[in-house]
Amino acid sequence: MEPLGIGKAHGKIILMGEHAVVYQQPAIAIPFFETTVQTKVRPANQLSIDCPFYKGLIKTMPELLKSVQTAIMTTLSYLKKEGATFHLTVRSTIPIERGMGSSAAVATSIIRAICSYFNITITHDDLLTLIHQAEMIAHGNPSGLDALTTSSNQAYYFIKNKQPQAIEINCQSFLIVADTNITGQTKKAVQHVRHLHTINQDKYSNIIREIGQLTTQAADCLTNNKVTQLGQLMTRNHQLLQSLEVSSPLLDQLVKIALKNKALGAKLTGGGLGGCMIALCANKEQAVIIEKQLLQAGAKQTWIYSLNQSLTKGTIE
Ligand code: PMV
Repeated sequence: MEPLGIGKAHGKIILMGEHAVVYQQPAIAIPFFETTVQTKVRPANQLSIDCPFYKGLIKTMPELLKSVQTAIMTTLSYLKKEGATFHLTVRSTIPIERGMGSSAAVATSIIRAICSYFNITITHDDLLTLIHQAEMIAHGNPSGLDALTTSSNQAYYFIKNKQPQAIEINCQSFLIVADTNITGQTKKAVQHVRHLHTINQDKYSNIIREIGQLTTQAADCLTNNKVTQLGQLMTRNHQLLQSLEVSSPLLDQLVKIALKNKALGAKLTGGGLGGCMIALCANKEQAVIIEKQLLQAGAKQTWIYSLNQSLTKGTIE
């Protein structure tokens, strides 16, 4: 049988703290096992790939996929296998540019698949370093949150350049994730916040600091099953993200509808300017009712996700 390398990863959801995390404030992210990516590697005479948006040689990949090319080349250099040739097949259900960490997850699965093909075990720290190099190209100056959460089964309380802390989730509630089907470019959103921060440092530093405080309180809520308070923190976080001008009319509309239908809280997730909204619901029945309303209001696809799932489901090695 010919050797085969397989690597997997999943999407992620930022519960609290996006954007503020770029400014050294905490964020909380959970793995999202409903969306996944898988890469397979098999022997070939040339280095080639079949992935969303491109089929062909690695050396002639379009500029748009430079981060994928970087993930492959840096992994080969890390493994000291620079001259190796093989074929990669990448299949993903993670929607692109919707705040689910698609680029980091693709890089994770590719790096894992190449390591598995050569039968080499990679440490999580080395994996994060390689993902980061690909993410530098996809996002400019990423916080590292996407790389961490798409490559591990834990929920994390994360501060840039510090040791991430795994969070214990003891919440019996459900999240609805609603996709606007509008691509939101994280790089553009991060640059916009940077611009606002530069022109009015006092105002935007206060907003960013408040997001950090909400996030710290949310971590306590997650561990101690304080779902009502968690919902309130999420909704306030959304208002602050609106002040950072990274929401969109459809995201705001979906948040409004979720709250009107008795969600405990709702906010955008990820970079914003499109992408996804999340709403916290006390139970699954309520989540199903709200889900219907969100789809009627223009959400293109939705998922209902148990918050506890990050502890109970999914193996990704
Ligand atoms: O849109 P996503 O899933 O890449 O999330 C970006 C999160 C930001 O805080 C906006 C940026 C970052 O690097 O953490």
